[in-house]
Amino acid sequence: MLSRRSFLSAVAVAAALKSIAARAQERFSPFVGSNPENVTRMVELAAPKAGETVIDLGSGDGRIVFAATQGRPGVRGIGVDVNNELVVKANASAKEQKLADRVQFLHQNVFDADLSKVDVIFMWLFPELMRLLRPKILREARPGTRLVAATWDMGPWWPADTTDEPPGAFMTIRQWIVPARVEGQWEWEFMLRDRNYRFEALLEQRMQQVEGAIRSGNRRELLQNMTLRGAALSFSTQITLPGTGYARLSFNGNVQGDAIEGTFEAQIPKPDQENETETVRRPWRARRVATAGFFAPTGTNIN
Ligand SMILES: C[S@@+](CC[C@H](N)C(=O)[O-])C[C@H]1O[C@@H](n2cnc3c(N)ncnc32)[C@H](O)[C@@H]1O
Repeated sequence: MLSRRSFLSAVAVAAALKSIAARAQERFSPFVGSNPENVTRMVELAAPKAGETVIDLGSGDGRIVFAATQGRPGVRGIGVDVNNELVVKANASAKEQKLADRVQFLHQNVFDADLSKVDVIFMWLFPELMRLLRPKILREARPGTRLVAATWDMGPWWPADTTDEPPGAFMTIRQWIVPARVEGQWEWEFMLRDRNYRFEALLEQRMQQVEGAIRSGNRRELLQNMTLRGAALSFSTQITLPGTGYARLSFNGNVQGDAIEGTFEAQIPKPDQENETETVRRPWRARRVATAGFFAPTGTNIN
């Protein structure tokens, strides 16, 4: 049994720990500057170009923003940090380095940062903070925005193929590409041999992983070879089109909100020459008609 005195001191310790935890929750990652090798590797992996804007979420003394903008004319930089002392110093440093016309540090919580106009997001924060930011990044950043982070990953959001992990490197640097949101029901139509074909597709999405099914008339097929990189979506399928025959179709397009614009290629049998095929290429325009749903009832007439 705890004596009254030990009980009271246990309560005091618990209360103190709770208050530290509460402060830690507000601040999350404390300021520890990235080492220079990591800064260089992060900036080189992101490779910001003239006209682009980078942001460092939790910018500390600004070293990543400076490295991304120094010697890269036309690149704009934003840093956000909850520590106002660091923000004031970083802005003074931007002035000294004659970068103040295109570099700015804001006293802001990373969760309030505007990600809608940036091309590159840098992060070197505690892993749980990075994961807490994942839904914000996926929702607010534009498709194609590069996210570059050192050390920690983003859980089930797999990085793009560009991961910098040379043998003996101090830390892994990873890059993610924000995917367009393609989930939902899409429709399009096209003409082949004077016939109009109408298509519906249902796409399911988890980060850049997309699965889908297509339906034309009462025929439905799975979509294959689906890739989504930023706004670039591609897939293929094979489906029998009444009056045309067995068609191999491949689609490539750019997603912009509820529209996709691109091209499709159809490999179809030549008329009256069953073993010969021809390939036609046409523009492809699809529109999203619902963010979720399923095909209309099929009925029993499935021939
Ligand atoms: C590990 S340091 C990284 C500094 C810099 N990005 C670098 O790599 O050198 C993390 C920074 O994030 C800031 N920070 C932590 N939580 C934050 C939050 N919720 N909003 C804004 N900044 C935050 C800290 O003040 C600190 O400067």
